Amino acid sequence: MTFEIYKLSKNLGAEVKGLDLQGTLSPSIRTKVNDAFVENNILVFRNQNLNAKQFLAAAKQLGQPTIQKLSQYKVPGCPMVSYVSNQEKTDAGNPKLLGKAWHTDHSFQPEPPKATLLHGVKLPKRGGDTWFANMRLAYDTLPNKLKDRINGLEAIHAYRESRNVMTKNERNAEILSDAEERKLNIVHPVVRTHDINGSKSIYLNPLRIKRFVGMGPDESSELLQRLIHHSTKDNLVYAHRWRQGDVIIWDNRQTMHRVEHNYDLCEERLMHRIILRGVKPE
Ligand SMILES: [Fe+2]
Repeated sequence: MTFEIYKLSKNLGAEVKGLDLQGTLSPSIRTKVNDAFVENNILVFRNQNLNAKQFLAAAKQLGQPTIQKLSQYKVPGCPMVSYVSNQEKTDAGNPKLLGKAWHTDHSFQPEPPKATLLHGVKLPKRGGDTWFANMRLAYDTLPNKLKDRINGLEAIHAYRESRNVMTKNERNAEILSDAEERKLNIVHPVVRTHDINGSKSIYLNPLRIKRFVGMGPDESSELLQRLIHHSTKDNLVYAHRWRQGDVIIWDNRQTMHRVEHNYDLCEERLMHRIILRGVKPE
């Protein structure tokens, strides 16, 4: 089996052409795919005709699938695969549209997943792009003053039901000491070193970061906004326009992502999702 890699944008993302994920990848192909994945942050495989079990078998060739929080979204009969659907409703009966703001997956865990895979099962005719930000390049291009400010800094990641960025008021509502936060929540470095390629990235999850260690809520909000602003500039992001059958794998260690719900909500948008086990950020 041979395959080719085509860049999807100047600074992140690549398409893999010539690989059918229903097939078994040889060890040398797996190594090449994994190398391309780490280098490009995101890989896209088009026209993959996979049911949930086949998708899981494909993911096992790229890492170790792990169970996801939110048990209500598991695919029946295949609990390692969850689904992301715009047909879910809030208690008020409105469409439950998740993932609108920039984030990285499951950062509230001590060992967040190294990667997330999505398979586009049903897609709206247009819209619903998933955006990615290259956090490795974000670190590389950060002004030295900001680099100095975040090198060695840690962030408190808290699990919350809400999927919106925490407001200043919410940050100010609950002031706990750093020691208390460490007991209750998960603390990760703001600059993490990739366990495979050794590069540094800004490890940011605006949905979960409550504040930075040693900083109050206001200073934390200000710094977080500056880092988000820098990391999501046009030259650091890629918007993926989905086609039916696309499989995307992205590297949570060196990207953030968000989805745009800019499509006709009467149309169904259904994805299957798998996360791959990762290591403690360091
Ligand atoms: Fe996500």
